[in-house]
Amino acid sequence: MSLLPTHRPRRNRKSQVIRDMVQEARLTTHDFIYPLFLMEGQNRTLEVKSMPGIHRFTADRIIDEIGQCVELGINAFAPFPGLSDAVKDRLARESANPDGLYLRTVADIKRQFPDVVLMTDVAMDPYSSDGHDGVVDAESGEILNDATLEILAQMALAQARAGADILGPSDMMDGRVGYIREVLDQNAFAHVSIMSYTAKYASAFYGPFRDALDSAPKRGDKKTYQMNPANKREALRELALDEQEGADMVMVKPALSYLDVIHAVKEKTNLPVTAYNVSGEYAMVKAAAQQGWLDGERTMMEVLLSIKRAGADAILTYFAKEAAAVLRRG
Ligand code: PBG
Repeated sequence: MSLLPTHRPRRNRKSQVIRDMVQEARLTTHDFIYPLFLMEGQNRTLEVKSMPGIHRFTADRIIDEIGQCVELGINAFAPFPGLSDAVKDRLARESANPDGLYLRTVADIKRQFPDVVLMTDVAMDPYSSDGHDGVVDAESGEILNDATLEILAQMALAQARAGADILGPSDMMDGRVGYIREVLDQNAFAHVSIMSYTAKYASAFYGPFRDALDSAPKRGDKKTYQMNPANKREALRELALDEQEGADMVMVKPALSYLDVIHAVKEKTNLPVTAYNVSGEYAMVKAAAQQGWLDGERTMMEVLLSIKRAGADAILTYFAKEAAAVLRRG
């Protein structure tokens, strides 16, 4: 028997053309949904300290930012509102106010960019004086699941009226997808989609996002509704429920520490699967790059590609604009 290898996988790596030919996963700007932070005021942008390169925009400036992104081929955006304490209350009433900052801006974006797809955030935390995604019982401090559902449904309805294309319930209350679906359908919004945050984990990686929106819980944590990072089968249980309740797309969040969950969800469903490459994952790469410890651009592209390889059809990512520029350069 010859000692020489009979199989040489390296032949498929011998030139750039061949490597490109056999490449399995590929990134394009169609994969990206770009989260954007909205703030009160006018004609201002403010960099998020823990997210170099990511800004909070006033409503007028967010229009400019979207214009630049559309030029780069990004057509889907997920705006999040950062609001002052003055408009927050226990029941997140501001969330259904059509004249409030968020819904006015959503309507304005759709007016200026009718072809852009907007995925709005359905969750109480940016509007909640408690900083939670559910109603907090004033005495026990418990999160009241069923009382939250009606608030989420009214918020969803208001967002649909403002022109949202996709609603993204990011709260993790039980039964919210079915509840929101029914209220939308009853109100002539059968065409509005729901992208469920299906497997959203109680993660340390949300820190920079909570800084950006000043939305951290005032007391306690989110472990009674967001999932335990140790669990994968539980994600499949949430997936089955979201499918039954009528979700159009499902999401795993965060992405990088949960690539196995993305893979497992993709194997089990025929719905499109998205992943949220969250704020802390962005911050980590940026911090190492600033130190000169990692090549920021190559790391970014590898991170995004790995999320696609794991099975994501689309990625919510703060890297969207930067990665689109890299893809354009080729
Ligand atoms: C809350 C929400 C969070 C994120 C998106 N929606 C934070 C949380 O659950 O506390 C985090 C996204 C990120 O970290 O990029 N409704």
